[in-house]
Amino acid sequence: MLALAHESYRRAGWRGPRHPPIHPATGIVDLANFELFRKGHPVAGYARLHAEAPIYWQDEPVEAEPGYWAISRYADVKAISKDPESFSSQKGGINIAYGDPADMHPLLTPGALDNMIALDGEPHVELRRQHMPFFTPGYIRRLTARVDVKVAELLDALATKAPRCNLVDAFAAELPLFTLAELLGVDQADRPRLAQWMADLEMAIYFGAVREGQLAPTPEIIAAYNGWEERIREFFDYGMREIRDRQANPRDDLMSAIANAVVDGGPMPDMYLAGAWELIFIAGNDTTRNSISGMMRLLSENPEQKAKLLANMDLLPNAIQEAVRLISPVIYMKRTATRDAEVGGQSIAEGEKLVMYYGAANRDPAVFADPDRFDVARENAAQHLAFGFGKHVCLGRQIALMQLESAYRQLLARFPDMTMDGEMVCAPNNFVHAITEMPVRFSR
Ligand code: HEM
Repeated sequence: MLALAHESYRRAGWRGPRHPPIHPATGIVDLANFELFRKGHPVAGYARLHAEAPIYWQDEPVEAEPGYWAISRYADVKAISKDPESFSSQKGGINIAYGDPADMHPLLTPGALDNMIALDGEPHVELRRQHMPFFTPGYIRRLTARVDVKVAELLDALATKAPRCNLVDAFAAELPLFTLAELLGVDQADRPRLAQWMADLEMAIYFGAVREGQLAPTPEIIAAYNGWEERIREFFDYGMREIRDRQANPRDDLMSAIANAVVDGGPMPDMYLAGAWELIFIAGNDTTRNSISGMMRLLSENPEQKAKLLANMDLLPNAIQEAVRLISPVIYMKRTATRDAEVGGQSIAEGEKLVMYYGAANRDPAVFADPDRFDVARENAAQHLAFGFGKHVCLGRQIALMQLESAYRQLLARFPDMTMDGEMVCAPNNFVHAITEMPVRFSR
């Protein structure tokens, strides 16, 4: 029987590092702070971490949690990602803990732990292999044709909103939802519900923190919490209904591959299936949404780079990699040491957590010259780690890049003067960049 990750999700019962930190980092930046990422990555903090404390001990917001090693150097993130035997995704899951899992919806925390991304070894490799037919170049080519048509349709609708709109609602949220619905084989008419559930899932960390007493409930939180429990229940009911349907009538879609996955000669337990639904829904959705919105910000803030791109659209694939590098829509992934180890000169004890900050690694001056600069022609842009690295490297990265390319090829041709016009707004979330508002101005 497959050992599920949530069974090992235990609070460790100690606080602080076992070995003295080689870099004291107190006061540089509190990466565990919920509000920190609302205006984007804390780039000044990252720069100081690279110079003064590329690996440091970060206390956690949950009192009972011991804290973790915060990793910001490119080489260290890569080394940890390449060594899953020493740095497990399964032992403690890939998220920092917020709130008490016992207070949350019974599937929410296990769901975030019991899925492919939080499994090690053979079961992980086997599940990846079974999902692969939906991520091959041939499959993506066929998907691209449908995505291109959808982009054109969304831009037609966008044109009616000129001269101003929120790019997130009008475009950036819609495209990944469409693509994911195609991939999973779920009804496109359900997209409004799916969009609401995405917003609800992005708030889960915050509600956990409120329950734990770490945050005061503001009017914004109270409003978002209205009906939240019920909607989370509906989200899991929906996913499980789709899964049961594919178990009874398998079809040529990713949901059927998830529903009928076999490991160790047997079907996957329901807890895993609920987690697989939660994973694919989050992974395939808001990362791309936030990259589409984030790229608009980069192009608007760097008009000379936008002009360079418009003059030579062959640069687009590289410009997209460069945008993903700087946006780093997944803020971090966590690993847990399975044995005593060393990272960047720091002794790590077995059982300690390591949190890899992709946005920091992707701004490491040792790898990316003038790292905060958006350079559409940067030669090594594609070496970024925003999709992770190693055995768990993002399964959907080619689908994400394809969507971004289709979106910006058509958007820049149709609305070359579109520009950010006002403040970007992010939901409070320090796991993913959850851009909820990207105000833009444009002419038709
Ligand atoms: C710009 C968009 C995206 C970014 C930045 C991104 C980033 C990531 C990262 C950082 C990981 C974890 C790597 C690790 O733990 O080492 C990951 C895993 C994953 N991503 Fe993505 N992702 C994106 C889009 C997508 C899309 C569109 C899909 C699906 C359609 C997807 C599906 C997955 C899956 C299934 C995994 C788990 C892979 C495994 O555990 O083997 N992602 N992604």
